[in-house]
Amino acid sequence: MSRAVPPLKIGPHEIWPPLVLAPMSGVTNRTMRALYKPFGLGLTVTEFVSSNALQYGNRRTMEMIDQHGLEKPVSTQLWGDDPAIMARAAQVVRECGADIVDINFGCPAPKVTKTSGGSACLKDVEKCEAIMKAVVEAVDCPVTMKMRLGWNESNLVYVDVAKRAQAVGVAAITLHARTARQFYKGSADWDHIARLKASIDIPVIGNGDLNDAQLAMQRMRDSGVDALMVGRATLGNPWLISQIRDLMEGREAQPLPEAAERLRYSIVHYRAMVDEWGERRAVPQMRKHIALYIKGIHGAAVLRERIMHMDTAQEVYDVIEEAIASLQRESVAA
Ligand SMILES: Cc1cc2nc3c(=O)[nH]c(=O)nc-3n(C[C@H](O)[C@H](O)[C@H](O)COP(=O)(O)O)c2cc1C
Repeated sequence: MSRAVPPLKIGPHEIWPPLVLAPMSGVTNRTMRALYKPFGLGLTVTEFVSSNALQYGNRRTMEMIDQHGLEKPVSTQLWGDDPAIMARAAQVVRECGADIVDINFGCPAPKVTKTSGGSACLKDVEKCEAIMKAVVEAVDCPVTMKMRLGWNESNLVYVDVAKRAQAVGVAAITLHARTARQFYKGSADWDHIARLKASIDIPVIGNGDLNDAQLAMQRMRDSGVDALMVGRATLGNPWLISQIRDLMEGREAQPLPEAAERLRYSIVHYRAMVDEWGERRAVPQMRKHIALYIKGIHGAAVLRERIMHMDTAQEVYDVIEEAIASLQRESVAA
């Protein structure tokens, strides 16, 4: 294998390929991370967890930081605005198996920013520094940080926060190149990611709108980042991960699979979710995934509508099997 890019180094971890699954709250639970990892991810990150909630250790919170051990190394992401509470939370997640602790300065959701957490921290760069310093001092593993460009267009603080991060011992930084006020509107501006890479010495992970393998590699080359993070575009399409890995490993990217294979894999994903979380919790969670697996398939709108109203896994398996059979009949007839 002739690698087209070097591995990502975070503390003692040499991460290959330098491709990270974006943390996505309500989506990237341990089942999904373990399923998607073999497609070619070097690193996975848990859904963010509230540092305050971790003090109480309720079951739902602990589930969010849980892992199978199948996805080593794994990074656990914390959010909060109090340095001492963040430091204690970091110790808890470290004890629960985190190889890396990641600090969230990126979440724009009002339920998080109204308590001054996530991207709201970027309004106060000194507080960001205090949080990072407290967390770095609290744990014996690498600490990383994920942020947006700033709270809004007129406060692009990412270089300032990154330099403070580097100074207090943060081991790597992910930048999602939008402001918090942009939420997901507009496009991620990779020129800012290139600027960040040129401003600091610790590894930078570039994130935002990577929905094509060639484009992803182009972004990596142009910005000079040490790794890429992929999120939404992998949902229902984990083969994008394999395509990027192929290019990172110096091979041509394998073509994306046919519709029938995508549908078959959606059942594998569904069954894994039912096995681990039980049908009552898996069925509603899988609706959004199935909608993405079937995207672009002939008759997807009707299929999606039917699946949205189904309450049992078996009903879903039956209609997907039916759709696979129909695709096979079409391909024989063609
Ligand atoms: C449903 C959803 C949940 C998210 N939850 C988190 C989270 O818990 N922590 C975090 O740092 N970012 C979170 N993000 C942001 C992603 O990690 C990523 O930065 C963003 O989606 C841009 O990358 P993409 O264009 O590849 O999706 C979330 C995004 C989505 C769509």
